Amino acid sequence: MKAVVYERYGRPDVLRVEDVPTPTPAAGQVLVEVAATSINLSDWECLRGSPFYARLGGLRAPARPTLGSDIAGRVEAVGTGVTRFQPGDEVYGDNLRLKGGFAQYAVAHESALGLKPAELTLAEASAIPQAGAIALQGTAGAANGHRVLINGGGGGSGSFAIQLAKALGAHVTGVDNGGKLEFMRSLGADEVIDYRRDDFTRDHAPYDLILDLVAHRSVFAYHRALARGGRYRCVGGSVPALLSVLTIGAAAGLVTGRRLGVLAVKEGPRYFEPLTEMCVAGNVSIHIDRTFGLDEVPQALAYVGEGHALGKVVVTSR
Ligand SMILES: NC(=O)c1ccc[n+]([C@@H]2O[C@H](COP(=O)([O-])OP(=O)(O)OC[C@H]3O[C@@H](n4cnc5c(N)ncnc54)[C@H](OP(=O)(O)O)[C@@H]3O)[C@@H](O)[C@H]2O)c1
Repeated sequence: MKAVVYERYGRPDVLRVEDVPTPTPAAGQVLVEVAATSINLSDWECLRGSPFYARLGGLRAPARPTLGSDIAGRVEAVGTGVTRFQPGDEVYGDNLRLKGGFAQYAVAHESALGLKPAELTLAEASAIPQAGAIALQGTAGAANGHRVLINGGGGGSGSFAIQLAKALGAHVTGVDNGGKLEFMRSLGADEVIDYRRDDFTRDHAPYDLILDLVAHRSVFAYHRALARGGRYRCVGGSVPALLSVLTIGAAAGLVTGRRLGVLAVKEGPRYFEPLTEMCVAGNVSIHIDRTFGLDEVPQALAYVGEGHALGKVVVTSR
């Protein structure tokens, strides 16, 4: 089968398209003929080997030869013990542990996958799992009248998070680069901030809930941006920023009535299917900015990693 492989961390030009053996599903695994794989920032981070947490499991060289977590496709074969799927089923899910989506076939644990609803295309379904789970868990607790800020609101998780927070009745501020401000407005953001020109922790605060998809500031800045009783959650960013939120942020929060923490996102269909239901019902929209072919994975990753993508980008394998 055709797969996009890499042996060392680096820029997109370390990726090559090669013929490799089709994987065999082990017990509890499903072999999926991949139709579409959406790109997440985690793919870019695992390509670059940066931030440092992207090297967990592969300090010097990538642990998995093929990237691609958010897969959608047709079940080709199942390993022993698989009970929920059979060949021919259309499935989708976040294969973050095994990856391998930038290929014609990928193996995934049965527990990572859900059945694709007929109302969504395979490309649309591939856009949901990782970003949807982050957005749902990241906006949990937002309520009518809350001031909610989504830092990185113009990307994959952010575009869902803005819509979810609006649906809960919050007053939503989206922060991203200047080229994504109109897009965030179109998703329902009440206010938008260009992070290259403005510091949301100084000029616009305070907020009741901040979901930070790309934490790079000091923990004191995040603390300053929170209203009393407010909550700051980050899911990714620089290692120093994440470590300081985990340590100083948690301690400072205890004495000042503000909660700061790193969200360890729970994976699996029960964590993304609620968003799928909202998409099927027409209450949340899936914005696919661009679609690339399997041969164009380097360009697709660069498009996301270098800051051009509005919402999601999808690689199609068929
Ligand atoms: N905690 C967990 O368990 C877990 C699990 C999976 C993923 N993650 C993390 O979750 C995050 C999800 O990202 P995603 O896939 O939604 O990414 P994405 O689609 O790339 O969106 C990120 C957005 O943030 C913007 N951005 C970059 N730097 C910024 C800054 N300093 N201030 C404000 N916005 C900025 C980007 O725009 P530019 O174009 O300007 O760069 C982009 O629009 C990643 O950090 C990933 O590592 C965490």
